[in-house]
Amino acid sequence: MTKKLNIAMIGGGFMGKAHAMAYAAMPMFFWPAPALPVRKVVVDVSQELADDARDRFGFEEASTDWLSVVQRDDIDVVDICTPNNMHAEMAIAAAKAGKHILCEKPLSNTLEDAERMATAVRESGVISMAAFNYRRTPAIALAKKLISEGKIGEIRNFRGTYLQDWSADPDGPLSWRFQKSVAGSGALGDIGTHVIDLAHHLVGPISSTMAMTKTYIADRPIQDSGFDALGASEKKSDAPRAPVDVDDEVSALLRFENGAIGSLEASRNAFGRNNFITLEIHGTQGSIHFNYERRDELQVMFADDPADTRGFRTIYTGPAHPYGEGLWPIPALGIGYSETKIVECFDLISAIANNEQPSPNFDEALRVERVAHAIAQSAETDRWESL
Ligand SMILES: NC(=O)c1ccc[n+]([C@@H]2O[C@H](COP(=O)([O-])OP(=O)(O)OC[C@H]3O[C@@H](n4cnc5c(N)ncnc54)[C@H](O)[C@@H]3O)[C@@H](O)[C@H]2O)c1
Repeated sequence: MTKKLNIAMIGGGFMGKAHAMAYAAMPMFFWPAPALPVRKVVVDVSQELADDARDRFGFEEASTDWLSVVQRDDIDVVDICTPNNMHAEMAIAAAKAGKHILCEKPLSNTLEDAERMATAVRESGVISMAAFNYRRTPAIALAKKLISEGKIGEIRNFRGTYLQDWSADPDGPLSWRFQKSVAGSGALGDIGTHVIDLAHHLVGPISSTMAMTKTYIADRPIQDSGFDALGASEKKSDAPRAPVDVDDEVSALLRFENGAIGSLEASRNAFGRNNFITLEIHGTQGSIHFNYERRDELQVMFADDPADTRGFRTIYTGPAHPYGEGLWPIPALGIGYSETKIVECFDLISAIANNEQPSPNFDEALRVERVAHAIAQSAETDRWESL
């Protein structure tokens, strides 16, 4: 009989929905499943929110006491889907209780807490994973495979963007994502860290950076509720306003340990861009281009193609590509955000079943935090910062 793993999920907001969906759907795609995730307990700040999350996301129980849930003997995996300032306390308690951990990105809101989290899981020996799910888009997994096989040669250049526009309206509410004490940083930690993870995954470790950050919208209307509707909440232009103390936008030059150079840009105020994660990677024998808004596709150019047919070709990911056998039977049926979370869940549950650390584990996520910290520092000092 397939082994079962009891999940305790903390936080029933946007990511709670994505993770609960993945626990339910993973065995439907990846069968036989490495183990069966059981949606055991969901935790939120009030009984009403927790009960709602239990009923909506298919958990057996609801609680408002995350610490006692984390310490329960019947819990195998703790899944942290709360705002960033709670990640460290929850993950360290889970590691001490011997639970495997999936933690949403960024690892924490301060570098010191991220260091403590990585130390805690190393010392306890539990499986840890940070939820940088975009690397699990099949087209990005295919890019990784082509790069690893040397198909585009030595990497010379990486350009990564993550552009959104949900916070471009100055009357969008002051949710936790605009508060340094909760989020740690703005576009940098929220979406720039995904690009850093992709750069590490596809090119290798970043060694130094020179960066700028900018806050265009200096204050926003105070919000009543705790969770963040990402700009979709009702605008209250007459509500009292309070300062935004995080960045709206970041641009960074990057140097990699392997000699490649590149850049990163992230903004949540780029009108017309919704979830515009783009990657362009140039090597000595070809190039790769990816745009998440067309995420079934990978554009690849091989320099040794005959001169009269040379150019970017478009590959629609499907059964022949990474994770393809589990997902859909023909290419171009449509890969979505859900699929990235289902694959993330498959990789997490496989790692636990096989007792191997998945990627990115907390050590790798800590490296992402170190780069984000260096970017923030460079924006202050106006100098190159080394890792
Ligand atoms: N991987 C991705 O693509 C992605 C996308 C969005 C958010 N995230 C990350 O996921 C995390 C959560 O973001 P979200 O968008 O789901 O936020 P959200 O505001 O939608 O939901 C957060 C939930 O956590 C609950 N919560 C807050 N404090 C709590 C506590 N002490 N105990 C229990 N529950 C608590 C809130 O009530 C709310 O239900 C953040 O770290 C964020 O950066 C990742």
